[in-house]
Amino acid sequence: MANFIKKYLNLACYALIFSTVTSACQNQEQTQTENSDNTVKLTEQTNITQQEFGKMPDGRMAMLYTLRNAEGMEVKITNYGGTITHWTAPDKNGKYEDVVLGHDSLSGYLTASPYFGCIIGRYGNRIAKGKFTLEGQTYTLAVNNGENHLHGGLQGFDKVLWEATPIDGEEPALKLTYLSKDGEEGYPGNLQVEVTYRLQKDNALRIDYQATTDKTTVVNLTNHTYFNLLGHTEGDILGHELMLNASAFLPVDKTMIPTGEIRPVKGTVFDFTQSTPIGARINDTKDEQIKFGIGYDHSWVLNPPTEKDGLNLVGKVVEPNSGRILEIFTTEPAVQFYTGNFLNGSITGKRGVVYKQRYGFCLETQHYPDSPNKKNFPSTVLKPNETYQTSTLHRFSVN
Ligand code: BGC
Repeated sequence: MANFIKKYLNLACYALIFSTVTSACQNQEQTQTENSDNTVKLTEQTNITQQEFGKMPDGRMAMLYTLRNAEGMEVKITNYGGTITHWTAPDKNGKYEDVVLGHDSLSGYLTASPYFGCIIGRYGNRIAKGKFTLEGQTYTLAVNNGENHLHGGLQGFDKVLWEATPIDGEEPALKLTYLSKDGEEGYPGNLQVEVTYRLQKDNALRIDYQATTDKTTVVNLTNHTYFNLLGHTEGDILGHELMLNASAFLPVDKTMIPTGEIRPVKGTVFDFTQSTPIGARINDTKDEQIKFGIGYDHSWVLNPPTEKDGLNLVGKVVEPNSGRILEIFTTEPAVQFYTGNFLNGSITGKRGVVYKQRYGFCLETQHYPDSPNKKNFPSTVLKPNETYQTSTLHRFSVN
């Protein structure tokens, strides 16, 4: 009798395994159907599709994923650099335009991209002279910006191919993972990174960053999207009105490294506590900081959150003609506001548009630049057994 029960249980087990495997295959088949426009539908729901984006120099294929929500917003992301290439948002008449700068194909990103739309890592912004000391050991990083290290070095997270997992649903998401090896660009520790983009129902894109390490290291991740709320084909961003939830900013030296001072914005051209056109004071040549940045290219220290948990308001950008509004929220303590000062017309982007100075602005939520060398700045150190976790949300609406 006991033997009979055993046999019966074994058979039941085999049947269960067989049916699970078959249904997984059936699901797999269902998830891979071709659309007429060459994109591949990943499931019966159509809120995320994928297509080829171009070949990497080593022959690997970079993919492009399109996330859509019921409102009609579309965000395209390639696993090359985790880069947001297209992002449509409605104006006051409901007309959707692509509001980010970028390229139509991978080759544009490989040849000429001032960090358009990508994930920045291991360290957002500059580390002075590419050096820092951690637990008594001095590390030397790749130097790629004058004498300094910028945005993770020569081959930062913006220039690598990430593993991508599309997640379909009412709020489609793209999970990207990358293992940054011990010693990469000079940083200590194998850093396992995960970045998830989720397109929400309310026309917000949420970015969740996570990382763990096996040796003490520093981490400061961000996204480097250049926005133009008029549409990326429409010229400069000087008429956009900006409010920043920040009473202080970080002055820099002439190599763009923070001096260590945390300076109140009151009475300076860095005061955006009241909504002000970006162009109103951007050419104030009497201001040394504007001269150093050739415009705005500084870190604003966000006012402490009013709620203990959750996301803190970074700021709000209003484009008065189109009525488009972008609000940003984050868990990070600062934001780098950069006004595309180094765009000079040498890059031709999507739809043949020539991107000139100030055709886009970036609001990069992050820790302060050069924190590994500044004792008075919040720490960017990550130890084994700790998890780096930050989130930023970009929400579009209209006036
Ligand atoms: C930096 C700028 C730099 C730009 C690169 C910004 O985050 O603050 O100084 O030139 O990225 O596109």
